[in-house]
Amino acid sequence: MKNPYESYPATIAKIILDAPDTRGFTLQFQDKKRQAGFSFLPGQFIVVGLPGIGEIPVGINSSTSEKKFVQITVRGVGKVSRAIQQKTVGSTLFVRGPYGNGWPMKKIEKRDLLVIAGGLGIIPLKPLIDEACRKDWGHQNQVQVFYGSRNFKNLLFENQYKKWCQFHDTQIILDAAGPRWHGEVGNITDLLDKHSVPKDAIVTACGPPIMYKYLIPKLLKKGYKEEDIYLSLERKMYCAVGTCEHCAIGDKYVCKDGPIFSLAEIKDMPEALE
Ligand SMILES: Cc1cc2nc3c(=O)[nH]c(=O)nc-3n(C[C@H](O)[C@H](O)[C@H](O)COP(=O)(O)OP(=O)(O)OC[C@H]3O[C@@H](n4cnc5c(N)ncnc54)[C@H](O)[C@@H]3O)c2cc1C
Ligand code: FES
Repeated sequence: MKNPYESYPATIAKIILDAPDTRGFTLQFQDKKRQAGFSFLPGQFIVVGLPGIGEIPVGINSSTSEKKFVQITVRGVGKVSRAIQQKTVGSTLFVRGPYGNGWPMKKIEKRDLLVIAGGLGIIPLKPLIDEACRKDWGHQNQVQVFYGSRNFKNLLFENQYKKWCQFHDTQIILDAAGPRWHGEVGNITDLLDKHSVPKDAIVTACGPPIMYKYLIPKLLKKGYKEEDIYLSLERKMYCAVGTCEHCAIGDKYVCKDGPIFSLAEIKDMPEALE
């Protein structure tokens, strides 16, 4: 039987400075078969470790169709994430996973889609946006992408926006104006008032709890159904496979049952959105 904790060495092939304290890593499994066979669903995550230091869960931001490498983006906030950031091209990281459920792709493919990302929340949404840019995606379906960031320097994946805009209406909003920004300024929820949004759509959102606090009432007021609003949650994790109970919310484990939950599933668990 496959060991769910088994980690595989992966070499850092490329590093980019994506935003302050945030680096993008291109990883290649050292075992070529592992690399070729690695597959995941948009919204799933992996656990990345450094022996003797620790492990952290991170979203995958490369496209699901990419077979030559896996891309992650790490913001340095503490012991492990900062240690990963200090690694250089050619260093080895240990990767296990993918884990978690991913966005409900079967449901999404048949419906209009509203993607809402705040800050690092764009990471697990990027593979979903990439999927929706595929030529064989149902282009009769409307796809709207809203992405909010603190400031211009913190925007991630800037080189992708041109491609996204070819396929979808993509709107970016920053918390504050700046010399390099001539676009929208305000809260991400403002975009829901300023732009026409697909009505009977699936909503996929990832961002900090404060974003959910304002976003959820607004989405409900606009008529989106609880069972069509999907939120990606973040909790401190250890095992990532539903055994250590570290990420429990009520009777659910964020690592195994999530990290993506419909609002209908978690609405009676106020601690889920804290
Ligand atoms: C499913 C999932 C996907 C994630 N994807 C990414 C990603 O793509 N890129 C990325 O940079 N980070 C991501 N994170 C967050 C990342 O895992 C944490 O920042 C990391 O675990 C911090 O570990 P550390 O040892 O560096 O910091 P620590 O020394 O453990 O902690 C530093 C600070 O961060 C806080 N913290 C630690 N873990 C979390 C957490 N999970 N949520 C909120 N606060 C936390 C601590 O309370 C402390 O204040 C994800 C987390 C989850 C659960
Ligand atoms: S991290 Fe162990 S149960 Fe989720």
